[in-house]
Amino acid sequence: MAYEMIEVRTEAGKVGIVTLNRPKQMNALNNQLMDEMGAALKAFDADEAIGCMIVTGSEKAFAAGADIGAMATYSFADVYKGDYITRNWETIRSIRKPVIAAVSGFALGGGCELAMMCDFIIAADNARFGQPEIKLGIIPGAGGTQRLPRAVGKAKAMDLALTGRMMNADEAERGGLVSRVVPLDKLMEEALGAALMICDYSQIAVMAAKESINRSFESGLSDGVMFERRIFHALFATTDQKEGMDAFVNKRKAQFKHQ
Ligand code: CAA
Repeated sequence: MAYEMIEVRTEAGKVGIVTLNRPKQMNALNNQLMDEMGAALKAFDADEAIGCMIVTGSEKAFAAGADIGAMATYSFADVYKGDYITRNWETIRSIRKPVIAAVSGFALGGGCELAMMCDFIIAADNARFGQPEIKLGIIPGAGGTQRLPRAVGKAKAMDLALTGRMMNADEAERGGLVSRVVPLDKLMEEALGAALMICDYSQIAVMAAKESINRSFESGLSDGVMFERRIFHALFATTDQKEGMDAFVNKRKAQFKHQ
């Protein structure tokens, strides 16, 4: 598939990188871009050689939200019948290998929501996060009212969604939205370092860890722990568990085969 609104590349043959590429619109998200990103991530997910993915934008903007120009004339019938957002914006949620968001500049509205749909966020020190939809007469519509409170708690989520203010990278890290903040010029190095580290672990264990943590948002504690325990037990059937533990016992580096 030829892409017009994203750039796709691999690093070290094992990390798939998707770069949002609508610089004039600050990477505003529209259906074509979301279709392209979904297709690229699915292709990486299906590629045996790829162990981890990174979604990133430009220095100025990860993504400044849904494309307001495209949305401005939509009617209720358009968005309801067309299943706006639901139809194609959440493909990323079906990706089973880890996806890291490397965020610099603005991550607003749908941009913040996209970052939250990734597995974790590494932010540059110039990153700004917010859900400013209230200023447009709407509310966050790509999961912001659900994922933001889970990430930063009710107080900050309400503050951000009701005032439309932005938070900087330090506040986002303090609040628990981002896992690390690094200088802007180190962003991709840091994200790539994390991705390569993940690629070297057992892909089965990595996918299982992602699946189990995601389950914690969908279930009560007892059911979640039971889910975890069953997967934990199942991992003892893998070659990689034998390799990882044998390597530790014999003081050598594990060579996982993803089996
Ligand atoms: N959609 C379409 N175009 C956008 C855009 C968006 N979300 N955000 C920025 N742009 C465009 C601007 O229109 C402008 O284009 P022109 O040069 O053709 O005028 C260009 O990007 C640069 O923007 P600014 O001149 O405004 O740059 P700035 O540095 O002064 O401000 C900004 C940057 C704070 C990000 C500002 O552009 C802004 O507030 N953007 C809108 C943010 C927003 O409201 N996002 C939420 C969208 S709704 C949503 O996402 C719904 C949902 O939950 C799914």
